[in-house]
Amino acid sequence: MATNESTSSNQWVSSNGRLLDVEDLHVEFRTREGIANAINGVSFHLDRHETLAILGESGSGKSVTAQAIMGILDTPPGFVTGGVVNYCGVDLLGLKEKERRKVRGAHIAMIFQDALSSLNPCFPVGWQIAEMFRIHRGMTKANALKQAIALMEKVKIPGARERVKAFPHQFSGGMRQRIMIAMAIALDPAILIADEPTTALDVTVQAQIMDLLKQIQEESGMGLILITHDLGVVANVADRIAVMYAGRMVESAMVHDVYANPRHPYTIGLLESVPRMDAKSGGVLPAIGGLPPNLLAMPEGCPFHPRCRFAAEECRQGSPPPLTELDQGSRYAACWRLDSPEVTAHIQGGSDDD
Ligand SMILES: Nc1ncnc2c1ncn2[C@@H]1O[C@H](COP(=O)(O)OP(=O)(O)OP(=O)(O)O)[C@@H](O)[C@H]1O
Ligand SMILES: [Mg+2]
Repeated sequence: MATNESTSSNQWVSSNGRLLDVEDLHVEFRTREGIANAINGVSFHLDRHETLAILGESGSGKSVTAQAIMGILDTPPGFVTGGVVNYCGVDLLGLKEKERRKVRGAHIAMIFQDALSSLNPCFPVGWQIAEMFRIHRGMTKANALKQAIALMEKVKIPGARERVKAFPHQFSGGMRQRIMIAMAIALDPAILIADEPTTALDVTVQAQIMDLLKQIQEESGMGLILITHDLGVVANVADRIAVMYAGRMVESAMVHDVYANPRHPYTIGLLESVPRMDAKSGGVLPAIGGLPPNLLAMPEGCPFHPRCRFAAEECRQGSPPPLTELDQGSRYAACWRLDSPEVTAHIQGGSDDD
């Protein structure tokens, strides 16, 4: 692959504007207890300027999907056993580690939930940001530090010039997350994957960090993959949602379509469990009963059927339902009972046509 570290990632855009196409991704963990199929045929795409939220319960495979795209899967025990991760026409899964390293950071960058453990406690933050420019851009120490200060200013760290010499523990959680964002965008990546970037922060700081990410995205045109549990965050910032369950994509659609008319029973349950301002007081908030399946002992049929209130005989046997195109391709859902009256009753107006 002709990845050049000194070129901007912005030129790595395929002719149709599509940045990333993940097709039929499979990841398994080979553990002492057996093979855990963590990702079972996940497919999705990301365009320039677009924010895709990947949503799902703990253990559904959100982070493992991101790690497989980044090439930072814990191997062993994790192995990508199938699929394509097409970045601007190149299958990243087919690249040698040396080539993948060039893509990481410069083309596809990632930020994690826990900024403190992602930063090196022994070095000043400015030095850590400057290292990105020294390693990838071959800058001198002085120039790299100047760039680091400029980036700290860009992510709105007050007093950047003075604080460039401070250590990670001298910053608040929100400021540390800003430093992680600065490092992630240092090389102007085409794609930023943010894995629960605000979960550890209080609500006000969460909103500020999301605003910052959106502002950076507007300026650069990068595609943003936002991994989150938080439906509130998704509603405000995402363009599209992909909902994961037990290592599969179960629904994907534009945000407003998902909120207005969730089609998969799991998405319906997720949305019902969000507190609403217009709810009657004293009511009990519905929750999806049961637990996600054990990856080492997946149920037969649809993996969601043991927890699904709409499950019927067809859901309890055979293979899992495939992701099916709905609404002229603007939405996909994986459920055998999409057209059943019980499920379609949740569509606004109760219509059952696609
Ligand atoms: N190193 C590992 N060894 C074995 N299994 C693993 C390993 N890493 C992840 N898994 C399994 O892969 C599955 C998907 O994990 P993943 O971390 O992607 O979940 P997630 O959706 O990101 O959850 P969370 O919301 O809690 O971060 C889980 O069942 C997890 O136990
Ligand atoms: Mg995770």
